[in-house]
Amino acid sequence: MIERLNDFYDQDIISVKDFDKSKFEKVFSATDKIMKMDPNERRELGRGKTLGYLFFEPSTRTRLSFQAAMALIGGSSLGIADVSSSSTKKGESLADTVRMMSIYSDVVALRHPLDGSSRFAAEISQKPVLNAGSGTEEHPTQAIQDLYTIKKEKNKIDGLKIGIIGDLKYGRTVYSLLYALSNYDVDVRLISPESLKIRADSIYEIQKKLSLKESTNLDEFIDELDVVYVTRIQKERFPDEEEYQKVRGSYKIGLDIVSKMKDNSIILHPLPRIDEISAEVDSTKQARYFAQAEYGKFTRAALLALVLNEHDL
Ligand code: CP
Repeated sequence: MIERLNDFYDQDIISVKDFDKSKFEKVFSATDKIMKMDPNERRELGRGKTLGYLFFEPSTRTRLSFQAAMALIGGSSLGIADVSSSSTKKGESLADTVRMMSIYSDVVALRHPLDGSSRFAAEISQKPVLNAGSGTEEHPTQAIQDLYTIKKEKNKIDGLKIGIIGDLKYGRTVYSLLYALSNYDVDVRLISPESLKIRADSIYEIQKKLSLKESTNLDEFIDELDVVYVTRIQKERFPDEEEYQKVRGSYKIGLDIVSKMKDNSIILHPLPRIDEISAEVDSTKQARYFAQAEYGKFTRAALLALVLNEHDL
C-alpha cells in the first residue's frame, strides 16, 4: 500500500487563498502536538535541516520566530536580515539571491516589499518557499498564527464577531486574516479612516464569503466585538507623507476603550504597535497580543515540520 504524504510536504506557503478549513485545522492540530511534544522527539522533526531566511524589509517577530521555531524542531537557520550587507547591494537580482538560498537551505522564508515576490521566488527556488510578508498583499503565516490565537483564547472561531481596526488598505496581515476568516462562520466589522478602507478589488472577493460591515467609527461596534484586532497605520507604504499625517493616530485603544468592550473579549495586534494601543492596556486581561506573538513560534514550528517531513505529525 502506498502511504499518503502530508499535504504540506515539500510545498510552498504563499497565500492563505490556497488554504481551506481542513488545512488550517491540520496546522492547528500539528501546533498543539508540537507544544506538548517531548523536546527530544520534537528536535527530530527538523534534525539536519536548515531554514534560509531572506528579509528585504525589517522584521522582529516573523524572522525571530521562524528562527526560534527552527531551533525548537532541532534545525538550524542562516540568512540575510539586512540586504545592504548582501550582494543585492552590488546589483544581484532577487531571482539569483533566491536561487543561492535554495542551494544552501532546505526551506526558504522570504519577506519582500513587492506584491507577488513570494510567488515569483517559489518559481525560482528548488526548495519550498514560505511567504513571510509580500508587499501589501499577504502575510499568510501571520494569519495562521492569528487564527490559532483566536481558537486558543476563545475556544472557537465560528460564531465570533471580529473587529479589524486601523490601516485596512496597506496592512497585509488584514488581507491574509480576512481570506483565512472566510473559511469560518464569523461576523466581521471593518473600522478604518475613509482613506484606508479595504481595497476595492479585495472587498468584492471577500464579501462573497464573509458577513461584514464597514465603519469609520470604532464606538459603533466596540461593545459587541469578541475579538478586537488592531493594526498599525503602515507609514512606510504611503506614497505621500502628507496623506499619512492626516490619518496617523486615528484610533487609540486606551483604558477608556477597554472599559466599553465585552468582559471576555480579547485584543490582538500583529505588532509592531506604535501608538494605537497604549501601554496601560498591556496589563488588562483583554490584551492578548504578546501571547499571540508567542503562539507564532509554535505555529511556524508546525508549518516547518509539516513542510520538511513526509508524514503527519
Ligand atoms: N507581525 C509582524 O510581521 O511583525 P514583524 O514585522 O516584526 O515581523
